[in-house]
Amino acid sequence: MALLAALAGVCLAAPTAAQPMPARKLVPVDLPLRLKEVESDPRLGANVIRTGRQVAAFCAHCHGEGGNSLKPDVPNLAGQNPEYLIEQLRQFAEGRRRNEFMEGLIKAMSADEKVGIVMFFANEKVAHKPAANAALAARGRDYYNKVCFQCHGQDGHGNEHFARIAGQQPVYLRNTLQHYRDGTSARVNPIMSGITRPMSEADLDAVVAYVSSMQ
Ligand code: HEC
Ligand code: HEC
Repeated sequence: MALLAALAGVCLAAPTAAQPMPARKLVPVDLPLRLKEVESDPRLGANVIRTGRQVAAFCAHCHGEGGNSLKPDVPNLAGQNPEYLIEQLRQFAEGRRRNEFMEGLIKAMSADEKVGIVMFFANEKVAHKPAANAALAARGRDYYNKVCFQCHGQDGHGNEHFARIAGQQPVYLRNTLQHYRDGTSARVNPIMSGITRPMSEADLDAVVAYVSSMQ
């Protein structure tokens, strides 16, 4: 319970970006393998998820209760596929995805805290937000059904290889797609940069309006 121990003194107050968690030396663990082990053992799963739920109370400062973010630029973690989340935690830890606060935090977490947290969030329901602009969302749906459904699924729920994007926070979606397209962040992905390259600003707005309103 490395993070819980590290947090005991500090996490009651809302964290700030200037307050990263102390990095610790942890024995490397094959996280995808550990996730599979925990998923296939209900008793172990219940224990690890209990730990995850405790850590989630801290993540809630930014990602919201149960992973439904109230900040449009911070992603929901609710309903997200555990394999995808584990991979993102790894990317932050390795600096392939940069966010100063997330990096410090993840380095302080034990393997079972990571597995527990992703399993906890995966079981939470995503709050539905209807589209503010129905005409724009309808244009986005057409684009989605031509391109995005191939990997993220008709319903936007993804699978063990692809992220859930349905109901994701709109500003986070917009920023993420724009970064992939313009190559303006450490998060580089050849598939998503190829997909977004032909997208105009209007295409981005429409797709974001639709995806953020999917259930
Ligand atoms: C101080 C605010 C803050 C706190 C607290 C925080 N996060 Fe984050 N998190 C962010 C931001 C901002 C991003 C988006 C980073 C980006 O894409 O640039 C993010 C992104 C993520 C992502 C990637 C999601 C995706 O859809 O790709 C994961 C996973 C994540 N956080 C897990 C956690 C966990 C687990 C905790 C608690 C242990 C936590 N975060 C606590 C701000 C925070
Ligand atoms: C050929 C498969 C494929 C298609 C088609 C595709 N994606 Fe993706 N998408 C991916 C992969 C792979 C990732 C994970 C990239 C990473 O780890 O950074 C991803 C990640 C994303 C993310 C980041 C999720 C998060 O939580 O941070 C968003 C948003 C996204 N895709 C939106 C879209 C949209 C919108 C479309 C259609 C315009 C689309 N994708 C089409 C494969 C695809």
